[in-house]
Amino acid sequence: FVNASSDASPMIIPETLFGIFFEEINHAGAGGLWAELVSNRGFEAGGQNIPSNIDPWGVIGDHSLITVSTDRSSCFDRNKVALKMEVVCDVGGSNACPDGGVGIFNPGFWGMNIEEGKVYKLVFYVRSEGSVDLQVGLTDSNGVQKLAIGDRVVRSDVVNWTKVEARLEAKGSNYNSRLQITTKRKGVVWFDQVSLMPVDTYKGHGFRNDLFEMLKDLKPGFLRFPGGCFVEGEWLRNAFRWKETIGNWEERPGHFGDVWMYWTDDGFGHFEFLQLAEDLGAAPVWVFNNGVSHNDQVDTTAILPFVQEILDGLEFARGDSSSKWGSVRAAMGHPEPFDLKYVAVGNEDCGKKNYRGNYLKFYEAIRQAYPDIKVISNCDASRAPLDHPADMYDYHIYTDAKTMFAGSNYFDHASPSGPKAFVSEYAVTNNNDAGTGSLLAALAEAGFVIGLEKNSDLVEMASYAPLFVHTNDRRWNPDAIVFNASHSYGTPSYWMQHFFKESNGAILLSTSLDPNPSNQLLASAIIWENQENKNKYLRIKVVNFGSEAVTLKISIQGLTLNSIKSSGSTSTVLTSANVKDENSFTDPMKVVPLKSLLEDVGNDMDITLSPHSLYSLDLLT
Ligand code: AHR
Repeated sequence: FVNASSDASPMIIPETLFGIFFEEINHAGAGGLWAELVSNRGFEAGGQNIPSNIDPWGVIGDHSLITVSTDRSSCFDRNKVALKMEVVCDVGGSNACPDGGVGIFNPGFWGMNIEEGKVYKLVFYVRSEGSVDLQVGLTDSNGVQKLAIGDRVVRSDVVNWTKVEARLEAKGSNYNSRLQITTKRKGVVWFDQVSLMPVDTYKGHGFRNDLFEMLKDLKPGFLRFPGGCFVEGEWLRNAFRWKETIGNWEERPGHFGDVWMYWTDDGFGHFEFLQLAEDLGAAPVWVFNNGVSHNDQVDTTAILPFVQEILDGLEFARGDSSSKWGSVRAAMGHPEPFDLKYVAVGNEDCGKKNYRGNYLKFYEAIRQAYPDIKVISNCDASRAPLDHPADMYDYHIYTDAKTMFAGSNYFDHASPSGPKAFVSEYAVTNNNDAGTGSLLAALAEAGFVIGLEKNSDLVEMASYAPLFVHTNDRRWNPDAIVFNASHSYGTPSYWMQHFFKESNGAILLSTSLDPNPSNQLLASAIIWENQENKNKYLRIKVVNFGSEAVTLKISIQGLTLNSIKSSGSTSTVLTSANVKDENSFTDPMKVVPLKSLLEDVGNDMDITLSPHSLYSLDLLT
């Protein structure tokens, strides 16, 4: 029995309640949402020392014809490693190069997805003591199938580093392609900063279209970035430092993320995160390092330079284009400030020796310079008041399905007087329950999220974690969106979030379920407005966590809106034959929401809920 009624003073759900958390984990950005196709484009991934590891670059041609090595002769001061290619064979003669030439190739992040008709922009830097005659192209993984052949790059004036640009139009498709740069001419050639990007990215901003659209479809109210542990680092020397990630991409040093153990060239940097939030229409939430990593910490007496670094980062985002850092942002193509109003001081660092002391220094400085910015503490205030000022507190929960579902009432008991909660990471992670993303996990999370919605006077923001996983580098399981070079699909937890995407800014109604004998049902109700046709809907969400079908008698009382219309209402359900069912590349739509028209609607109606299901009833008012 669901009783949905509007109070005299309805509660408005925060515009930011449901959002997304992007962390550079599982190659979410590098090889994922960030559309750069070349992996290790600056040859720095093996470290700054030489000889460096150029993986995954490979060599085309026998050792007797070509050798490659690394030296520190790059023109880019912050990333000095360059690739040196010495070619012994020549055009014709007794030591003629093979027909296809010799050279180097890059297979991207486990294969480049090259699509017929699409155009790819290649940029690289080259130098030689003599002249160069290079052939660039895109081929299959063996170099046999030619997908795109660029114009020959013939230059005699490359004694100094020279930028080369080419457009490659694909004449065929192959999701396991590679970039090749070959030559048939004897000589020594150096390469650095080799980039290949599809021209077709979201608004040309560098975001891979299919993955971007999956985010956009969630209508996220906020975007938390760039981590997670990625922000902290195992060691401070490997933490994300925003200043290293802005400006011309060629000059960014890149860094090794030592928590998730892979190199990022930081093409997806501070600017791009802010741009992503803007493109998604989501409020950016910048999580910054507070001088604390997993294994080392900056003492509070020495934290001020770190505080200044963050103030500079805020000026970069918000300062006008005449300010020092605002002018850098403007030069990158965004003269208007970004709408940055939330920052989180660290990630999961509460309780570490210097956290509180450092936090206060950041808090005071940010409060003074930007009084409107909401500062989020890592310390949990859900059960006891904080001993420091904060606008919100961060709360993470990773658990088994039963505990997650039962957690729906967790925030019923949170203090109404303290800072609001930011549930920035939640997910069912117990292997047995979640697999690589099961219906069971999604239903348990739906129960928990219904609890967040009902407590949205105390909870201001919430996001599932992690967002993305590249199947070739699964560092954390499960995740919301699974992808490889060419394809992507949502796990049931991704689709579960769709049931809540109209909640931001909606009116929360009071609901009761009576009786609910085995506590296997949870429900909430909102009024939301379709922005396109301005129709208003009463949305009742119900999760049936049990293994039995349930007939629900719905009674809607006290709505001051027009009463429920007899047509135009829909029912959407997320369920499957087996509660452990998952989606996969071979069956990506196995567990997805199914929408149907709802007949016989009215203020009183009966609905049969399938076992293990999540429903959204959208009743046109
Ligand atoms: O979401 C994965 C990780 O879980 C995050 O990096 C961290 O904040 C948490 O421990």
